[in-house]
Amino acid sequence: MSQHPIGIKISGTGSYLPERILTNQDLARMVETSDEWIRSRTGIAERRIAADNEATSNLGAKAAERALEAAGLEATDLDLIIVATITPDKPFPNTACMVQRHIGASRAFCFSLEAACSGFVYMIEVASSLIRTGSAKHALIIGAEKLSTIINWEDRTTCVLFGDGAGAAILSATSPEENMLLASNLGADGTYADILHVPGGGTALPFSQYVLDHKLNYLQMSGPEVFKQAVNTMTSAASNVLADAGMTEADLTWFIPHQANTRIISAVAKRLGMDESKAYCNLERYGNTSAATIPIALDEMVRGGKVAHGDLLLMVAFGGGLTWGANLLRW
Ligand code: ACO
Repeated sequence: MSQHPIGIKISGTGSYLPERILTNQDLARMVETSDEWIRSRTGIAERRIAADNEATSNLGAKAAERALEAAGLEATDLDLIIVATITPDKPFPNTACMVQRHIGASRAFCFSLEAACSGFVYMIEVASSLIRTGSAKHALIIGAEKLSTIINWEDRTTCVLFGDGAGAAILSATSPEENMLLASNLGADGTYADILHVPGGGTALPFSQYVLDHKLNYLQMSGPEVFKQAVNTMTSAASNVLADAGMTEADLTWFIPHQANTRIISAVAKRLGMDESKAYCNLERYGNTSAATIPIALDEMVRGGKVAHGDLLLMVAFGGGLTWGANLLRW
C-alpha cells in the first residue's frame, strides 16, 4: 500500500428517510406473510416509503444538504456529484444533475453510477480517484433509492425486503497525514446478472403492454442464490481489503455491511472470524435501501457519536450485477 500525495477525508455525512413507515404488520395485510417470518428470515421490522411527489433526486438532495451542513461547505464548493442508484428519476438525464439542480451546486460535474447495492463502496473509490488526479477537491457522493417503484407489491418473496432512502458523504482532498481511505477492493461478475434484476423496461426488453402484463418492470430475485453469493463475495472483498492494508479483522473498530439481511451479516462476520458486535445494523428500521444502506448507517453512526478519531471502519457491500466491494477507512 503506497501513500498517495493527496489524502482523502470524509468531511461530512447526511441522510434522509421518508416519513411514511410500512411495518411488517402492514405487509401481512397485503400479501401472505407474517411479522414473525420476515423478522426471523431477514431481521427487518419496518421500512420507509417515499411520497408520490418525492423522486430519488429529492431524497438525495435532502441527504446532500445535511452532508454539506456537517462539512461546513456551500453547494457551490462542490466540484463533483455522483449519485449511485438503480431507481433514477428518469432514464436520462442522470439523477446527479437533478440533485445539482435542487441544491444549486453550479460548479460540479455530475454523473450517476449503477452498481446496485455496491454503489456507495464503488463511489468511494471512483470519487477518491478523481480527487487524486486533481479533477475535484470536494466530491459529493450519494446513494439514493426509491425502490418502492420497482417492487411488485404482490410478490411476497421480494416486497418484504426493500425500502426507500438516501445517504450522502462529501469526500475532500486533504494532506497525506489526514488520509482516511486506506484501501478499496471492488469486483463484479456479470455471468450472474439474471439472479437479481429488473428484466423489462430497458433496451433489452423495452416497455410494452407485454412487460406490464407480466410485471417485468419489477425487481426479480433468486433469493437463496443471492444469499449464497452475497456471503461469498462480501467475505472475500473484506478479506482482500484487509490484506491489502496489512491488517486483520482484529484491528477493526466497526464493520459497516450492506443492510440486506441479518443472516447474511452474521454469516459474513462468522466467516471472517469477527466479533459480530462490531457489525452496525439498522435494517430492522429501514430494510434494504440498496446503494443508500451504507451511507445512511455511516451518517447515523457519526451523528450518534459512535465513531471516534482513529477508529478503523470496514464497509462491505454486495448487489445486483453481480457487484461487490469493500473500503477500509481510518477515521
Ligand atoms: N412470507 C412468508 N413466506 C415466504 C415469504 C414471505 N415474505 N417469502 C418467501 N416465503 C416462503 C417461500 O415461498 C418458501 O415456501 P415453500 O418452501 O413453500 O416454497 C419458503 O418461504 C422459503 O423460501 P426461501 O426463498 O427458501 O427462503 P429463505 O430462507 O432463503 O429466505 C430470503 C428468503 C429472505 C429472500 C433470503 O433468501 C435472502 O435474504 N436472500 C438474499 C436477498 C438479498 O439480500 N437481496 C438483496 C441483494 S442486494 C441488491 O442488489 C438489491
